[in-house]
Amino acid sequence: MLRQALLAASHSRAARRIVEIAPGTRRMVRRFVAGETTDDALGVTAELADAGLLVSLIALGEDTLDTGQADTNVDDYAELLVRLGEVGLAGVAEVSLKLSAVGQALDEALALANARRICAAARDAGTTVTLDTEEYETVDATLRVCAELRREYPDTGVAIQSYLRRSEEYCAELAHEGSRVRLCKGAYSAPESVAFSDPVEIDKSYVRCMRVLMAGQGYPMLATHDPRLIEIAGALTTLNDRDPSGFEYQMLYGVRTHEQRRLAGEGAQVRVYAAFGREWYAYFMRRLAEKPSNLAFFFRSAAAE
Ligand code: FDA
Repeated sequence: MLRQALLAASHSRAARRIVEIAPGTRRMVRRFVAGETTDDALGVTAELADAGLLVSLIALGEDTLDTGQADTNVDDYAELLVRLGEVGLAGVAEVSLKLSAVGQALDEALALANARRICAAARDAGTTVTLDTEEYETVDATLRVCAELRREYPDTGVAIQSYLRRSEEYCAELAHEGSRVRLCKGAYSAPESVAFSDPVEIDKSYVRCMRVLMAGQGYPMLATHDPRLIEIAGALTTLNDRDPSGFEYQMLYGVRTHEQRRLAGEGAQVRVYAAFGREWYAYFMRRLAEKPSNLAFFFRSAAAE
């Protein structure tokens, strides 16, 4: 119930105005967002790299309904990628991209053209792009764009959300050699007809998808903080004789930081998904929706200011 309310609020302009001016917001946002500028993002990337972690940077700015804004978002990515190359961090950091930030809601062909520009900049810098998946209505379009991008940029990755009833099918289609699939539970709201809502069903689906990906020929990117799923991933590694270099764990910046370092210390590859930029509102609301105690922390921060 609370989760649904927070996800609904992530699209509300009125709620956005309230959250933006609430005391304590900045402190809480800083916990999940790696700053507002490219320099902030590069600073955080360098710190994470020093701790032995890989990084995926996302420039916030989703749900763009304006071609000019979509263009600006592409330019921001291009600048980020050039800077990553210049400071020598392209070997440890890739970028994540939400197609809604580059015009998916306006026109699929426009989003594809814009994503191509970002993939080209990533290739020039010596790194890769992974497409996020967003609202369930856009998932098939995102997979189509990914397939097109992969013709020219075969290392383009894509996220699959285990809450989708079709997730196992998607994973089976994508578990081929050269593919990079990020498996996550799913952070948006979706109707029962297309998605599981029961957390147990979502977890079971995650395990089924993980089995397919870990047994497949591609490169699985297991994006979860869930201790049970991480344990099962470990068992699947042994079962499938997968080398630590043949898959990675992924977690969000600011979430289970000790666990990120523990896994990396044990020799696993761990990538931290670090979002940055001024358009943090929707991203922040999804992080609140994921864990109700984040909301309590938010109110305590507000009361302390
Ligand atoms: P779950 O939500 O069950 O959390 C397990 C435990 O992790 C919690 O008990 C808590 O301890 C901790 N935890 C999780 N989230 C937390 C939070 N926000 N604050 C504090 N603690 C938290 N989604 C999507 O729809 N499309 C996408 O493209 C992506 N991309 C993506 C990339 C990466 C690298 C990650 C890690 C996640 C995503 N997600 C996503 C988000 C994902 O779908 C999901 O909402 C969150 O990862 C939370 O799910 P968990 O698997 O961690 O399990």
